[in-house]
Amino acid sequence: MTQDDVTLRPYTADDATATLRIFERAVTETARSRYSEAQVLAWLGGPRDETAWHERRAGARTVVAVVDGEVAGFTDLRDDGYVDMLFVSPDHGRRGIGARLLEHVVEEAVRDGVAALSTHASKVARPVFERAGFVVVERETVHRGDVTLDRYVMRRVLPHAPQPPR
Ligand SMILES: CC(C)(COP(=O)(O)OP(=O)(O)OC[C@H]1O[C@@H](n2cnc3c(N)ncnc32)[C@H](O)[C@@H]1OP(=O)(O)O)[C@@H](O)C(=O)NCCC(=O)NCCS
Repeated sequence: MTQDDVTLRPYTADDATATLRIFERAVTETARSRYSEAQVLAWLGGPRDETAWHERRAGARTVVAVVDGEVAGFTDLRDDGYVDMLFVSPDHGRRGIGARLLEHVVEEAVRDGVAALSTHASKVARPVFERAGFVVVERETVHRGDVTLDRYVMRRVLPHAPQPPR
């Protein structure tokens, strides 16, 4: 697979099941490389209601990456520049899909005149955000019950979008 085999398109209601499944697998399988079993289970936080999941995805600007007609990953962009989600299926990992999704987010944000992007990145996602120009602002420890998880507050200041002539 090359980056050319990946298509990006806006999220639709039909993507709810696939994106939820990717989230669950990315956390329990991919993120397991950098977090313990207890930590990934705490992150997952039990079964999610698909309707609520869809409403959150539709409420942010969510974009999905498609490979061979199947959703392989997704990300989003809030109007204030916050990137809440970046998840790629373990079946398609380490082939540049995460980078491609972030490239798209940066382009969209610059076009919309967003001043800066921010996120809370996992230990797995940190290098992917760094390659997309984000820098670590702070390391945070999140408490979920008895379990703690480290993550990073990251930020990328964006260049000003060209203004239309007056
Ligand atoms: C982070 C994530 C979206 C990256 O997607 P991706 O398509 O694999 O990203 P890219 O191919 O652009 O970049 C690959 C890099 O991601 C990281 N990565 C991906 N899979 C990894 C794994 N199984 N173990 C450790 N690092 C991994 C590595 O830094 C890798 O670079 P390397 O191959 O040179 O070591 C994906 O790994 C994922 O969904 N992870 C689990 C969930 C998560 O942490 N999401 C972010 C929440 S903030």
